[in-house]
Amino acid sequence: MLEIKHVSKSFFGFLALDDVSMRVEKGSFHALVGPNGAGKTTLFNVVVGRYPPDGGEVRLEERRTSGLATYRVVRMGLGISFQRSQAFLSMSVLENVMLAVLAHQGRSRALMRSFSAESEAKTTAYELIGWVGLADKTETPTAALPLGDLKRVDIAMALAGKPKLLLLDEPLAGLSRSERVSMVNFIEGLLRGLGITLLFTEHDTDAVLRLADRITVLHQGRVLAEGGPDEIKNDARVIEAFLGEEYAEG
Ligand SMILES: Nc1ncnc2c1ncn2[C@@H]1O[C@H](COP(=O)(O)OP(=O)(O)OP(=O)(O)O)[C@@H](O)[C@H]1O
Ligand SMILES: [Mg+2]
Repeated sequence: MLEIKHVSKSFFGFLALDDVSMRVEKGSFHALVGPNGAGKTTLFNVVVGRYPPDGGEVRLEERRTSGLATYRVVRMGLGISFQRSQAFLSMSVLENVMLAVLAHQGRSRALMRSFSAESEAKTTAYELIGWVGLADKTETPTAALPLGDLKRVDIAMALAGKPKLLLLDEPLAGLSRSERVSMVNFIEGLLRGLGITLLFTEHDTDAVLRLADRITVLHQGRVLAEGGPDEIKNDARVIEAFLGEEYAEG
């Protein structure tokens, strides 16, 4: 689904990504983990076309995406939900999701004039809102939502583009313990059901080990290890650099 080949990126001489290569298989849930500053968000920004890489390339289903503008990468099948919500806080859940639907149809300007485009977008928006479990909050201003629900709005907005691959940067950050459990179950149920491939970053190791089929560990801009959850939690280098002893078995 996604191939990252020898990607490097530096900021003012600081090498944030150093020859990073990884593959995300179709249908998998792939976690990108590592300590603060490891380069996870930078790699996401390269994948979504916010940062051009200094070297290397990214391909989504064989088609090169690196160097393209974000809106073009999104059109090729990439959905994005980053830590900072993209929702307009003064607008309701329904308005935000509708706007995302119209934007993905390239019709946001038609919002004011075309009744049929608007009613079609509304139907789709209601469906997306149902998927993310917010059917009883369609009219709520997003500013009034708890963080867990706000993240669901962002995911609904990302799904409006019918992505094949969804990128989530720290979907559990800032959530309470109970919200985390429900978010993990929600992500699992929704995305597996839709058959969407997931690439995500997360500091909550328990959640990573629960969700991920495959884990890539980044450390100081380099790939330190890659494998299934059992391999990774017992990898001596990963334990030393990142996990700590409590996750190792035996
Ligand atoms: N736009 C930028 N300009 C300068 N330096 C940057 C920029 N973006 C990231 N960096 C630097 O690159 C390194 C990697 O940052 P990045 O945000 O990718 O880490 P991360 O793995 O996402 O960390 P966290 O777990 O804290 O989110 C850090 O040292 C950071 O300061
Ligand atoms: Mg980050």
